[in-house]
Amino acid sequence: MKNSRLSLSGTNIVYLTFIGCALTIYLMLDSANITESSRAYLRLSGRVGMGLFFVSFGASTLHRLFNAGWSHYLIKNRRYYGISTAIVLWSHFLVILSLSVTASEWFRESAPWFILYPGSGVFILVGLMALSSNDYAVKKLGPKTWKTLHLVGGYTALAAFTYEYVLVLYLQPILLPNYEFAVKNSPLGTYALFAVPLLLFYLRFRKS
Ligand code: HEM
Repeated sequence: MKNSRLSLSGTNIVYLTFIGCALTIYLMLDSANITESSRAYLRLSGRVGMGLFFVSFGASTLHRLFNAGWSHYLIKNRRYYGISTAIVLWSHFLVILSLSVTASEWFRESAPWFILYPGSGVFILVGLMALSSNDYAVKKLGPKTWKTLHLVGGYTALAAFTYEYVLVLYLQPILLPNYEFAVKNSPLGTYALFAVPLLLFYLRFRKS
């Protein structure tokens, strides 16, 4: 009994994510170098959020493909991994917004409206998905509306992760000519990260 309470499942996943995020922000953000420390947190939260998103939005596909103990675990806990994804992505969003105060010049140059507005839309959708990840919301919205919200939100977030690396790899010289993405120091690492959302697209659209 005691063991199941300590296991990495159910609401424990959400609590752990929340505490992990708060602790990481506390340890990483450095007022002496707020821009670079915030950027480092944005890189970390973006990548961790993508990993959590992969296992939550990809759970049913992975289970269909592998039908193993670990994929069954993901199916059972995908709701909690989904909420954890939203917590991490909202911490990403809040740190971005905090930069508008703590590093306003950087923010003006590096977060133009054509990135900030669509990005904010994605965070709002992800937030709505998390808020409706409970039985009460499924009943209130009706299964059809609930499913539509989660499909539209899921694919929008998947497109946003894909876009992040399209921006890093191809669009940065046109859209953000003065910006340097740190991840570009490791081309192999960039392509490996880019492969994550592409793989999820592939798996979701794969027939069998
Ligand atoms: C509101 C608009 C957004 C802004 C201004 C923004 C800004 C940033 C910044 C400054 C970084 C650090 C990049 C660096 O300096 O090296 C970053 C990283 C990242 N962001 Fe965002 N972001 C936004 C929205 C999003 C959204 C909607 C997603 C996906 C749902 C996302 C996913 C990521 C990922 C995956 C990384 C890590 C990139 C890497 O591997 O280095 N971001 N973001």
